[in-house]
Amino acid sequence: MKFYLDTADVEQIAEVKRWGLLDGVTTNPSHISKTGRPAREVWKEICALVDGPVSLQCVQTEADAIYEEGLGLSKVADNAVVKIPVTIEGMIAAKRLAAQGIPINVTTCFSAAQALIAAKCGASYISPFVGRIDNVGQDGMEVAREIRQVYDNYGFETQLLFAGVRHPLHVRDAALIGCDVCTMMFEFMKQLYHHPLTDIAIDLFAKDWEKVPK
Ligand code: E4P
Repeated sequence: MKFYLDTADVEQIAEVKRWGLLDGVTTNPSHISKTGRPAREVWKEICALVDGPVSLQCVQTEADAIYEEGLGLSKVADNAVVKIPVTIEGMIAAKRLAAQGIPINVTTCFSAAQALIAAKCGASYISPFVGRIDNVGQDGMEVAREIRQVYDNYGFETQLLFAGVRHPLHVRDAALIGCDVCTMMFEFMKQLYHHPLTDIAIDLFAKDWEKVPK
């Protein structure tokens, strides 16, 4: 399973790259807004930093405008992936762009039906926001499992990009159901390494090592 960082914070991206864990990055308008910088400047910096796909999100809402915006985003860098919300207008544009070989990440997905539409439109990735489904009292993991089954049933090559991680168990469960990618915020990727028993074990080894005759 590939690990993507869900952020536009270039310092966090550089740090996870240093860990050797960075397979790609997903951005969205909220992430870009937090930088306080012009979008194009941030997109180009992130694409230059990352050795992998970087999702850049469209904000237009009408098919032709999304299509033109997506064409522009695809030209930001060779590793740019065009991210489009799963609306009727968005999927019209997604199908046109995918037909030209432009990689599309269909986002704001909250149901297997939406994921089926995205795959039929030729999406390279589908991004269900599992944490946000959980937040409204529904079962986000069940939606992810349904998407996995639908894609396997029909041999769709669209990659299941698990998004909306809220804790390490989401990452575990994403791997257990066979998601192709998991995108997560920096804090959750850092959390994956930690377990209190690991800290205790390391501390004990260090204390015992002090007793070894030098
Ligand atoms: C991920 O690609 C999405 O853009 C989004 O950030 C994921 O959902 P969240 O914001 O609820 O974590």
